[in-house]
Amino acid sequence: MNYNNDLFVPTYGRSGAPMVSGKGCTLVDGNGKEYLDFVSGIAVNALGYGDAGLEKALMDQGKKLLHGSNLWLSDTQMALAAKLIETSFADRIFFCNSGTEANEAAIKFARKWASKKKSSKTAILSFFDGFHGRTYGAMTATAQKKFHDGFHPLPQGYFYAPFNDIEGTKAMLELADFAAVIVEPIQGEGGVNVATPEFMKFLREYTTAHDIALIFDEIQCGMGRTGTLWAYEQLGVTPDILTSAKPIGGGLPLGAVLVKEEIALCLAPGDHGTTFGGNPLACALGKVVLDRVSDKEMLDHVTKMGEYLRAELVKTCAEFDEVESVLGMGLLVGLRFKEDPKKIIEKAFEKGLLIVKAGRNTVRFIPALIITEKEIDQAIAILKDILA
Ligand SMILES: Cc1ncc(COP(=O)(O)O)c(C=O)c1O
Repeated sequence: MNYNNDLFVPTYGRSGAPMVSGKGCTLVDGNGKEYLDFVSGIAVNALGYGDAGLEKALMDQGKKLLHGSNLWLSDTQMALAAKLIETSFADRIFFCNSGTEANEAAIKFARKWASKKKSSKTAILSFFDGFHGRTYGAMTATAQKKFHDGFHPLPQGYFYAPFNDIEGTKAMLELADFAAVIVEPIQGEGGVNVATPEFMKFLREYTTAHDIALIFDEIQCGMGRTGTLWAYEQLGVTPDILTSAKPIGGGLPLGAVLVKEEIALCLAPGDHGTTFGGNPLACALGKVVLDRVSDKEMLDHVTKMGEYLRAELVKTCAEFDEVESVLGMGLLVGLRFKEDPKKIIEKAFEKGLLIVKAGRNTVRFIPALIITEKEIDQAIAILKDILA
């Protein structure tokens, strides 16, 4: 099969044949080569490839209505919103198309909330090594220089603090009038750094005391990935706003902003919107995904597989000097190396194992939530072979 990355703006360093099909946790390229997939579309394909429930919802809704418009209510949007509200802290939902859009909306909602209270609070605090998206607001909240280089000037009013550092964060919070703090309970792109319960508790207490909106970006770590539906459930604190995307559309573009009533009611028709956000087809798939990933049996499976994967990786740490530590929760797992693991990821690709880098020196394992012990064993065997 012919393939050519020169057709595209070179924003992705892609190589190899195009991927053309998938089944379960296996992706297949145009030459028929199979890959054991521990990336799952960067934490999108929670149910794996070729899921029968998703296929049925796709066909059923495809025959009924592909797009109606946000001028009218949508039955699939209502069903998904109701289930999100039932399974979280939220009172209301705003749908969009992606993670970056969800974070843009969350930042706008937080500032609107502050402005409705006639407060002068507009500043946004985020954390080094976090990742919130590529549009200007979300990119500016992404406190990593490499994502900003060449794109200045950035929007004003963004400040950064060290992750998991209570004193450093407190010092930053005293520097400006903050409307919101945005944080990933687990920094995915930034290196699989898990927030400590003490840090999250501090953020909750400080933001409550100072009337600041606390936004959790659960775009990568939410929707069952950590073994609970939402990562915050394991950290003992609840946000005011939560952003979700990636797996929620079952492979179609969908994002959701989960919001408390008081903040939601600061918005009026026309204040924010989107043409495609909450598209009927994406929401129909979203309902299938949410029903499945909120199921106790699925969540228990994620916990069990996550523990198994981490235990197996800990053994590789003991065996190989290059490996430093094992990080993560549930099936968002990191293997931290002493040096850049780029070559290991390339070798794994050659050997038919898909893994992806996070931060400077971490390999990320974010398989479909349906991954099995046998598939974990296969991945570990390939990894050990490479390290040996
Ligand atoms: C935590 C987090 N937030 C936001 C985003 C941006 O999402 P999207 O690529 O859908 O815009 C990502 C994507 O990797 C993410 O991991």
